[in-house]
Amino acid sequence: MASGATLKIYLVFFVCAIASRSASAQLSGEDYYARSCPRALETIGSVVASAVANESRMGASLLRLLFHDCFVQGCDASILLDDTANFTGEKTAFPNVNSARGFDVIDTIKSKLEKLCPGIVSCADIIVVAAKYSVVALGGPSWRLQLGRRDSTTASLNAANTDLPAPFLNLSALITSFSNKGFTAKEMVALSGAHTIGQARCTTFRGRLYNESDISPPFAASLKTSCPSSGGDNNLSPLDVTTPTFFDNAYFKNLLGQKGLLHSDQQLFSGGSTDALVIDYSFGLGSFRNDFADAMVKMGGLSPLTGSSGQIRTNCRKVN
Ligand code: HEM
Ligand SMILES: *[C@@H]1O[C@H](CO)[C@@H](O)[C@H](O)[C@H]1NC(C)=O
Ligand SMILES: *[C@@H]1O[C@H](CO)[C@@H](O)[C@H](O)[C@H]1NC(C)=O
Ligand SMILES: *[C@@H]1O[C@H](CO)[C@@H](O)[C@H](O)[C@H]1NC(C)=O
Ligand SMILES: *[C@@H]1O[C@H](CO)[C@@H](O)[C@H](O)[C@H]1NC(C)=O
Repeated sequence: MASGATLKIYLVFFVCAIASRSASAQLSGEDYYARSCPRALETIGSVVASAVANESRMGASLLRLLFHDCFVQGCDASILLDDTANFTGEKTAFPNVNSARGFDVIDTIKSKLEKLCPGIVSCADIIVVAAKYSVVALGGPSWRLQLGRRDSTTASLNAANTDLPAPFLNLSALITSFSNKGFTAKEMVALSGAHTIGQARCTTFRGRLYNESDISPPFAASLKTSCPSSGGDNNLSPLDVTTPTFFDNAYFKNLLGQKGLLHSDQQLFSGGSTDALVIDYSFGLGSFRNDFADAMVKMGGLSPLTGSSGQIRTNCRKVN
């Protein structure tokens, strides 16, 4: 009897715990704004399409914003908060400073949405939707969106510095960095395929040009003209030397030819445990597209604020 009652109490507690956990952490589907802001997605899609048509790199920049938002206290738009006299955000963190971009495009989207349906669409959801439309605009895969995030009232400079992987990490450190966020090594490799688009500054890959041996000599030589051994820190080179504005699997083919731009890129194909997967992705575009899409949905699910947590910011750059 006593143990039956105890079991019942445990059961009730267990069910409540699960219910409250999912209530605080569960996202809704792509139709989340269907009633409250029916034109939300098409509005985001059209601003992204014209921004990418104007400058194809913007698609890469918007995709990277999602990664840099979601890996730092979850997908809560914390990366968008500006520093003020009494607030320090994430924009000056090492991986973001002079590097993260696309904030003006997010502002354009937000101001259109605030006119259309004030106080409804979160900045965190805007980042997620803009990243998907950016990938699609550059020829990449599509996926079903999960929506219903709310925006943080905080940011973490420290977490941005510690949780975002640096380009000089080796394979085991890259695997650990993603595993800390719940991703497998396979998902880490698929997500790194994002470097099939966009640009990097000389300062992020100089050591690879002048100090590493697993780099194609003609590739290194051509990069050295715009990335000298000192100076030119902000000079840009494409992460995918073959098709920098097209979302394909050329990134993986480049790795096979030792033409990864970043040290961290080439680590995925440098005699370690992920070599076989890189070879697979370099042959079969289809599996990369599927795995990338699945991993993007998973990234969008990192610790969202839902229910009554957080807020819907009016201006993505500041707390209401
Ligand atoms: C695996 C670990 C990763 C490292 C070490 C890394 C590092 C970097 C670095 C150093 C840059 C150049 C930044 C600059 O010079 O300003 C860059 C650019 C970029 N990264 Fe990553 N990244 C990683 C994973 C990812 C993931 C998971 C995504 C998205 C799913 C991503 C998307 C991008 C994009 C699209 C760019 C180009 C941005 C632009 O042109 O504005 N990266 N990354
Ligand atoms: C178009 O792209 C350029 C950079 O290539 C940028 O300076 C300009 O602001 C962009 N214009 C619009 C309307 O987005
Ligand atoms: C500092 O924070 C207070 C709220 O705590 C806010 O009202 C004020 O505007 C902030 N000042 C600046 C310069 O950001
Ligand atoms: C990878 O880097 C970590 C930390 O920087 C280091 O401790 C480890 O020995 C390195 N592993 C290999 C295989 O080089
Ligand atoms: C190359 O490595 C040497 C020795 O570790 C170091 O002193 C030098 O700064 C490195 N050069 C670059 C361009 O990273």
